[in-house]
Amino acid sequence: MRKVRVNAASKSYDVLIGRNAVEALGQEAKALCPGALKALIVSETNVAPLFMDAVKAQLEGAGFEVVSYVFEAGEQNKNINEIAGMWNKMAEAGFTRTDFVVGLGGGVTTDMAGFAASTFLRGIKVIQLPTSLLAMVDASVGGKTGIDIPMGKNQVGAFWQPALVLEDISFLKTLPAEVFTEGMGEVTKHAFIMDPALFDKLEKANGDIRSDEDLLEEIIFMNVSDKAGVVNEDETDNGRRQTLNYGHTIGHVIERDSGFTKPHGICVAKGMGIIMDASVRNGLLDAKEAERMKDLLKLYKLPVSDEITPEEAVTGAMNDKKKRGDTLSVILVDKIGSAVIKKMTKEEFLEFLSL
Ligand SMILES: NC(=O)c1ccc[n+]([C@@H]2O[C@H](COP(=O)([O-])OP(=O)(O)OC[C@H]3O[C@@H](n4cnc5c(N)ncnc54)[C@H](O)[C@@H]3O)[C@@H](O)[C@H]2O)c1
Ligand SMILES: [Zn+2]
Repeated sequence: MRKVRVNAASKSYDVLIGRNAVEALGQEAKALCPGALKALIVSETNVAPLFMDAVKAQLEGAGFEVVSYVFEAGEQNKNINEIAGMWNKMAEAGFTRTDFVVGLGGGVTTDMAGFAASTFLRGIKVIQLPTSLLAMVDASVGGKTGIDIPMGKNQVGAFWQPALVLEDISFLKTLPAEVFTEGMGEVTKHAFIMDPALFDKLEKANGDIRSDEDLLEEIIFMNVSDKAGVVNEDETDNGRRQTLNYGHTIGHVIERDSGFTKPHGICVAKGMGIIMDASVRNGLLDAKEAERMKDLLKLYKLPVSDEITPEEAVTGAMNDKKKRGDTLSVILVDKIGSAVIKKMTKEEFLEFLSL
């Protein structure tokens, strides 16, 4: 099993990556959660039928009493009602501060399991078991947890680092092809903003990183290492971590305007494509570099544009929580593997997009 150590300012922990990694859960949980008697497995209706039994068996085998909370799959359920359901489940089962939560699912699940853990009894441990590509390379690592509200995505949440992230590559076998593609939105983002070696590997793989499990594991490892490196430097998003927001300022607007029906990774790809084009027009990115990046997105079946207007993008972006005061931190890639943060006022952003 491969290991990435995350050394965030508030906490250090391991991300373990490998086939059948779930088989390490019982022992790891015992070691990491001393004094724990109970565990809550948070999962959803697509994932629970596939993996709940294996996860439960691991925890029960290690002597824990296990309860579960299964919500209806989908971003539209990433809300406070489900969190309240998790709190109540733990309260009813008599959880104390030494007990813990396990998040079993995609990014919706790991974000919510983490948030429920961060708030219950003012914070208990969470172990993340991501089951989607996106959750493995991004959502489960770094401690951002939260929920959506009608005004926007992830508007309520907490920084709450997990005790462990266990990434079982075998779980990806059942992931639908289009959901795998969505995860490639964040994978390509990592390549664009900070990892030329990952970019080359993705180009060479020619649109397929799935059929070769060794390659898949290596690419996931590279992504987790990238994300961990950023989190180690800037856990709470005041500096370099903001570069992970590449494509997200506009992506989030597209996602929200669709009533959260368009998947996150797809919207991020569109947002990145729009920013690449605008960067070229503004003389901040070489046209050939942008072409190579867009070709990579297309190679992995991701979109590179959207019909959103500059006005709609800017108005939507001004409601984003990433805004500080009156300025937006817009993330630009100035060459493959290098991102810069550019502060722009509303007017400047509009001008940048309209040129
Ligand atoms: N916390 C962070 O730093 C961070 C970073 C990026 C994204 N996110 C969040 O992550 C979410 C998106 O994550 P996602 O794309 O994983 O969404 P998701 O959790 O909705 O999963 C996508 C789909 O795949 C299904 N699925 C997941 N694993 C499966 C498996 N192994 N087999 C079969 N089906 C499976 C799910 O049921 C769902 O239908 C968004 O809410 C986004 O805001 C958070
Ligand atoms: Zn994202």
